[in-house]
Amino acid sequence: MRGYVDLHCHWVAGIDDGARNGDESLAMLRGLHQAGFDTVVATPHMRPGMFDNDRPALQRAFDAMKPTLSAAGRLPVVHLSSEHFFDDVVFGRLLKGQAVPYPGGRAVLVELGRGALPVRLAERFFDVTRAGLVPVLAHPERYEPVWKDDSCLDPLLDAGAHLLLDVCALVGKYGRSAQRAAEKLLESEAYEAACSDAHRPSDVDVVVRAIEQLERGVGAAECKRLLSAGPLGILGSPGAT
Ligand SMILES: [Fe+2]
Repeated sequence: MRGYVDLHCHWVAGIDDGARNGDESLAMLRGLHQAGFDTVVATPHMRPGMFDNDRPALQRAFDAMKPTLSAAGRLPVVHLSSEHFFDDVVFGRLLKGQAVPYPGGRAVLVELGRGALPVRLAERFFDVTRAGLVPVLAHPERYEPVWKDDSCLDPLLDAGAHLLLDVCALVGKYGRSAQRAAEKLLESEAYEAACSDAHRPSDVDVVVRAIEQLERGVGAAECKRLLSAGPLGILGSPGAT
């Protein structure tokens, strides 16, 4: 199967907890290409206090990869975006046009802390949509409130958010609770798309196993939707139809 689009991957070297050097970046991109991904969007962390990256720093790190990539032969098409940690600083950047939305500029990847959801999160998401960006929530299956009752996601969906599955949750990479939450959200067809969230070359084998598990769980057509038409739709690409 080909034509997959990965909306969440940490292959840019030396900017966060993802690839540590160009060799690891290339190994990840080659592995994901072999797994069926024709497009891989880089989403390095923007998380003040942990990964102090702003848009210019992310752009510099992405641009610095270009000579390595262009000498490497056949790879997926790549783009730059970011995984935006949804704190006050990053929320301000999202509203001020200082974030790094997905290519096409209509959606943006956001992540939350693991514990309690931020207060008035749905209202803040609505603010983001009013600023012209659809919030795409990274790995909802990993958040503890979702383990207890995934209806806490309903107000976020009502505010216009999309849910992005980290496919590796399906093979237990993040433990049983995250796996169960992912299975339940899949069953209720809550996900708009699935991604790798790969950080290391060794993650690619897990991604391959997880896609097989996804296909067993939801069938080939839904698996393909989550990895191709779904992400293309988030990018606003005509290939989504
Ligand atoms: Fe991530």
